[in-house]
Amino acid sequence: MGGILLDVDLRHLYLLDILVLTRSEVHVNLWCMKLQSIRGMNDIAPPESHIWGKIEDAARAVCRAAGYGEIRTPILEPTELFKRGVGEATDIVEKEMYTFDDRNGDSLTLRPEGTAGVVRAVNQHGWAIQQSILKLFYLGPMYRHERPQKGRYRQFYQFGIELLGVQDPLADAEVISVGWDLLKKIGIHDVELRISTLGTDSCRKPYFKKLTALLKENMDLVPEDFKSRIEKNPQRIFDHKDEKAQALAKKLPLLLDELDEESSQHFKRVQEHLHSMEIPFVVDANIVRGLDYYCHTAFEFTTNSLGKTQNALGGGGRYDGLVEMLGGRPTPGVGFAMGLDRLALVLQEASSFGGVRPDLVIVSSGKESVSVSLKVARELRGRGISVEVDLEGRSMKAQLKRANKLNAQYVLLIGEDECASGMAILKNMETRSEDSIPLEKLTAQLLEKFVESFHQE
Ligand code: HAM
Repeated sequence: MGGILLDVDLRHLYLLDILVLTRSEVHVNLWCMKLQSIRGMNDIAPPESHIWGKIEDAARAVCRAAGYGEIRTPILEPTELFKRGVGEATDIVEKEMYTFDDRNGDSLTLRPEGTAGVVRAVNQHGWAIQQSILKLFYLGPMYRHERPQKGRYRQFYQFGIELLGVQDPLADAEVISVGWDLLKKIGIHDVELRISTLGTDSCRKPYFKKLTALLKENMDLVPEDFKSRIEKNPQRIFDHKDEKAQALAKKLPLLLDELDEESSQHFKRVQEHLHSMEIPFVVDANIVRGLDYYCHTAFEFTTNSLGKTQNALGGGGRYDGLVEMLGGRPTPGVGFAMGLDRLALVLQEASSFGGVRPDLVIVSSGKESVSVSLKVARELRGRGISVEVDLEGRSMKAQLKRANKLNAQYVLLIGEDECASGMAILKNMETRSEDSIPLEKLTAQLLEKFVESFHQE
């Protein structure tokens, strides 16, 4: 029988039904197979998803406060958008995109990032012509076929903002401050803001030419996989992991030392604004962004909490040529995106959110008490208070055990005794204090209690 390679993980088969059809041909009928998600694409479920929800809520709140409105663009876009927008010579376009032809033969790509799609939408609808300033934010999945590891996935989620229409460095500083404020709001303190500049074309182009020439002179030290990059994107040598490449990069000139007047003034002003907002930063000449659309300011928010490799929580910069490159009127732009998976990982590891605890668990027993508990739970939930009730007819002891496990703030006891006396017992699980509440005033008095305790927090 000919050798047949089955691309199937046999641990997940309940039944393997093999029908031999000819000597060299085997049909394998796999049924009852436990299907798996695609490598690098994860399910996000409770309790982890609670952390995600809180991050997303915080992102929306920070954006609302800074005047950014939400935009939702399609996940699938024409491949051409990313080739032109992100750049043909980038890792993303060269080897990481999920690209396929649809049934009409059109080449489509699962978006690897959000900026190109936002700019496509802005151009398509003429928004930049109708309004002088556009402030947009987005949240959603992105796709890159990278080698999965902790903090690096093939489907990952970004929160990003884009500010279009402002040339002034004030816009760069405002955008950075939104990212900084979000990180502080969700409690990530181990974070460093690193900034650099890619200048204007008039200083970047001659610098790239010089870099290319220097790399060609040192071809023996240039890693094999980088040789094709020398012409198009020589600056990425600063980002190369190879030891010889790193040693070579240390000897190369820096763009920061070769800026023209406009570029150095822009960069200086961004730094002044950051100082005046008391946002700490370091200037890091080695920041190399993996997308080709940047000019002037480039920045990253990095952390030590996730190890050395996937330490970028977010990154962004100015992209003054992108709108025009995608067919729109010349419009400056600046923005950033943060990796939600990485933010969630940091918070999970620091247990800063500690999961979600219900405000109240109602422990009931007997028919009458169960119907009272359901009614009260609905009334309180309607006022935004999270309430858990027993749905399985468990004993009061088992329900109390569960309340402890859920780390509830309060427990309301409505057993048969409480129904008979007309008084329920409210236990504060933190202070261990108890109050009696008349059954007919339960909702009103509980609401008062929660308003009081929310005020104290
Ligand atoms: P980026 O640096 O490619 O920039 O991605 C931003 C962030 O997305 C990264 O710092 C990281 O946290 C997260 N990220 C990227 N790839 C992965 C991955 N495979 N797995 C998990 N997280 C990942 C952009 O995408 C630009 N569009 C940002 C921007 C907006 N620039 C201007 N406006």
